[in-house]
Amino acid sequence: MEFKIKSGDLAKHKTPCLVLGVFEKRKLAPAAELIDQASGGRLTELLKKGDLDGETGRTLMLYDLPGVAAERVLLVGCGKRKEATRTTYRQALAASVDLLQRTHAGTALSTLPEAAPEGLSHYLAVRDAVTTAAERVYRYSQTKDDKQAPKTPLRTLTLWVDNQRTADEAEQALRHGAAIAAGVTLARELGNLPGNVCTPSYLADQAHDLATRFDKLSVEVLEEAQMEELGMGALLCVSRGSRQPAKLIVFRYAGAAATQRPVVLVGKGLTFDAGGISLKPGADMDEMKYDMCGGASVFGAVQAACELDLPIHLIGVVPASENLPDGDANKPGDIVKSLSGQTIEVLNTDAEGRLILCDALTYSERFNPDLVIDVATLTGACVVALGKHASGLFTANDALAGELQAAGETAWDRVWRLPLWEDYQSQLDSNFADMANIGGRDGGAITAACFLSRYTKKFPWAHVDIAGTAWLSGKEKGGTGRPVPFLVQLLLERSGVLAASA
Ligand code: BES
Ligand code: MN
Ligand code: ZN
Repeated sequence: MEFKIKSGDLAKHKTPCLVLGVFEKRKLAPAAELIDQASGGRLTELLKKGDLDGETGRTLMLYDLPGVAAERVLLVGCGKRKEATRTTYRQALAASVDLLQRTHAGTALSTLPEAAPEGLSHYLAVRDAVTTAAERVYRYSQTKDDKQAPKTPLRTLTLWVDNQRTADEAEQALRHGAAIAAGVTLARELGNLPGNVCTPSYLADQAHDLATRFDKLSVEVLEEAQMEELGMGALLCVSRGSRQPAKLIVFRYAGAAATQRPVVLVGKGLTFDAGGISLKPGADMDEMKYDMCGGASVFGAVQAACELDLPIHLIGVVPASENLPDGDANKPGDIVKSLSGQTIEVLNTDAEGRLILCDALTYSERFNPDLVIDVATLTGACVVALGKHASGLFTANDALAGELQAAGETAWDRVWRLPLWEDYQSQLDSNFADMANIGGRDGGAITAACFLSRYTKKFPWAHVDIAGTAWLSGKEKGGTGRPVPFLVQLLLERSGVLAASA
């Protein structure tokens, strides 16, 4: 999908569809006001018929408005003006795109950023318009004919901004929004692919493809033999039960001098999680193809950094494996030695994410990182705690927590902090190894984070549990691309392109 910015005389713009905002009680947004004047009060007159009051997300299509060059005019309800929030604004944006997808317009000129709620910066108003549109037009089609695909999909969305505004800011928002959206789309597509397509080897191939697209991006893939050599006993014990070899994918994006300490993003790339010998129950097990969404979000964030040419040194590490039961699979009670030298008693083979991540985290030490963030669909307990709206955030570093929480808020891809207190650590005690890989039912998301904390002592670190946010279930089943917007926001801030949110 293509995005553009335009300003100038709204009534004179030739477009298949002009999108205008209307607040409740038929109050016209500023751009709609202009069109009302140009049409000699026709908008006000038509609204008096009562077909649209302005409730959030309601739409009304008008044709042949006098004095207006647009072929169609789409009115979109933006809710009560005084109570408008970023949520209602985004609902209005989504509703406009959904309707455009069902028309024959194909391209449109939207003024909705001018109807953004008070308090939302113009930059974010434009960026939200771009990311929301891209999110709504995405359709999965790799393994099925998309019979319900729109006949005339929305291909170009032009955003109109008032002449008074600085075009630079809108252009920057558009560029950032488009890169975030493309990263989200990449993560969704990888997530949606079935486990028999999206294997660790497939992810490795995709990583190589990504690297060929950008000069500053290189990739190295470690094979099982190399991991064995290094001593990654935790990662390798997970892939034992699988016929698909594990891969450790390592991206390096050289947007800044190699001497600059990098930001390292580590993403869980478990391409199918059956639980192993601690087999999961059958219901909804198909959704465990999404267990690589942390890894996919690293792909998305790395791609966005490349597209935006961000001045930052960035490393992406994706441990990729399957977790299946097999005669050669690891078993409850098995003890393995991690790359860090610490031994682990595998009490439950379904707590495999932390096993592949701990070795990937120890591996990250070699980059002398400024910051390491791992992203993982790690625990069902996190979904119980936070539901599907916030990702879980864990770090012992208060300043870092503030920075990350603010970045999530800005990106509207929110993270919420849970404690990582020492008090929980003893739940991981084992009589036979340095630690067990599970900590019991209580605080399951926290003890998983505690486990990871034992491998991250040498650098500033945060863990993001996306078990609830990475995909939707039921009729809406599909990857969300989260937390790509959050990660890209952080990179925009850490690279100095944007001021820090906090
Ligand atoms: N990939 C799952 C976590 C998960 C479960 C994410 C459901 C989203 C929805 C992870 O590997 C896992 O199985 N975790 C176990 C840990 C337990 C055995 C301590 C869980 O959450 O049940
Ligand atoms: Mn599991
Ligand atoms: Zn898992």
